Amino acid sequence: MKKIIIPKNIVTANSENSILYNSAIVVEDGIIKRIISTDDVSLLRNEYEIHNYENYTLIPGFIQTHIHLCQTLFRGLADDLELLDWLQKKIFPFENAHDENSLRISTQLGINELLKGGTTTILDMGTLHHQEIIFDELIKSGMRAYAGNCMIDRNDLYPKFSESTKWNLDNTYQWAKTFHNSSDGKIKFGFAPRFVLSCSENLLIETKEMMNDFEGSLYHTHSSENKKEVETVRKITGKDNVEYFDSINILDDKTVLAHCIHLSDDEVKILNKNNSRVSHCPSSNLKLGSGIANIPKLIENKISVSIGADGAPCNNSLSIFKEMHLTALIQKPLHGPTSMDALTVFRLATIEGARALHLENEIGSIEVGKKADFVLLDLNKSDQPINVNENIYSAIVYSADKSNVKAVFVDGIQLVNDSKVKFYDEIL
Ligand code: GUN
Ligand code: FE
Repeated sequence: MKKIIIPKNIVTANSENSILYNSAIVVEDGIIKRIISTDDVSLLRNEYEIHNYENYTLIPGFIQTHIHLCQTLFRGLADDLELLDWLQKKIFPFENAHDENSLRISTQLGINELLKGGTTTILDMGTLHHQEIIFDELIKSGMRAYAGNCMIDRNDLYPKFSESTKWNLDNTYQWAKTFHNSSDGKIKFGFAPRFVLSCSENLLIETKEMMNDFEGSLYHTHSSENKKEVETVRKITGKDNVEYFDSINILDDKTVLAHCIHLSDDEVKILNKNNSRVSHCPSSNLKLGSGIANIPKLIENKISVSIGADGAPCNNSLSIFKEMHLTALIQKPLHGPTSMDALTVFRLATIEGARALHLENEIGSIEVGKKADFVLLDLNKSDQPINVNENIYSAIVYSADKSNVKAVFVDGIQLVNDSKVKFYDEIL
């Protein structure tokens, strides 16, 4: 399908941060083939399907690097608890009670919400059982994702919710074999041992080894989120989270660690040395009272940082806009008004997300040769006037939300049209 998209302007961030006017993008076979002047569109009118969005701003699809689709149905369950109590009293019992039907509904609702909010790619952590349901829904939706079952072979907080090491490894291998590189390559496998407190050392190590059979897969876990968690990890392993992962050779550039709030200077150095990636989850970190991750310090130390909403109970909206607002706001009282500018935050939600997933040559910015994953924003709504001339990155980071999202495309296929989602609005 050959298409030309004509926006008001194109806003993107990569090695060059560009704002392009009077430009249209030419999409063929899901790829951005050319960026042309709007004056030249009339010459091509007969050959291409024209999508006219002359009042809207075209940006790359947002990328969220830490999501739990299985928790969408649990919204409202994280209101006044800290991490370990919340897992023990709410999340482990509720995830354990998921059947295939409830997991399917949770996944559908989460995907629907993410797409409507302009997120086109996620790194998802599933639950212990029924991972095929999550893949099935991701494939139907047309979105791009790394996903994988959450691995748990010990669980002192809620022993019922665990399986043997062998069960975890055997089932994970089968799911990876079936789904890695499915959906025309849009779906890849992200191995997801939940966190140190739910995994034996053997499981952590053997999972890393299993990745050798699945080129292009990732290793996705939680780390250094909460002080009690850090203390418990220290009691069990004698080390802090990141030190421990390093000591068993888990860390490399294929590892994505969610949260990373409570890190020693040595751990920051270890992350840098291994080129491991951090997913920042500001809503979740505030809601569970976990703390504020020192993102300026991580960036200064050349660590890849991207953004994720975590599960719906923590973020309440799965909105990348909310995560971007908070990413910017929470650093300012601690590190000063310029410590987290809007352009940096926009980068974390787009091109840095792509880097975290090793997809920076494919997505994360609007450039010729990349996949046509993009979002059209209406930044001129009369009920919420925004000055877009001063700094359009600020307008997007501070003032926009999902109500500004007009259209969403993945691989050149339109998945959202005026807040109607192609697949899910028919069934939800
Ligand atoms: N650590 C282990 N499991 C979880 C989870 O589901 N959410 C968060 N925020 N942290 C975790
Ligand atoms: Fe999480």
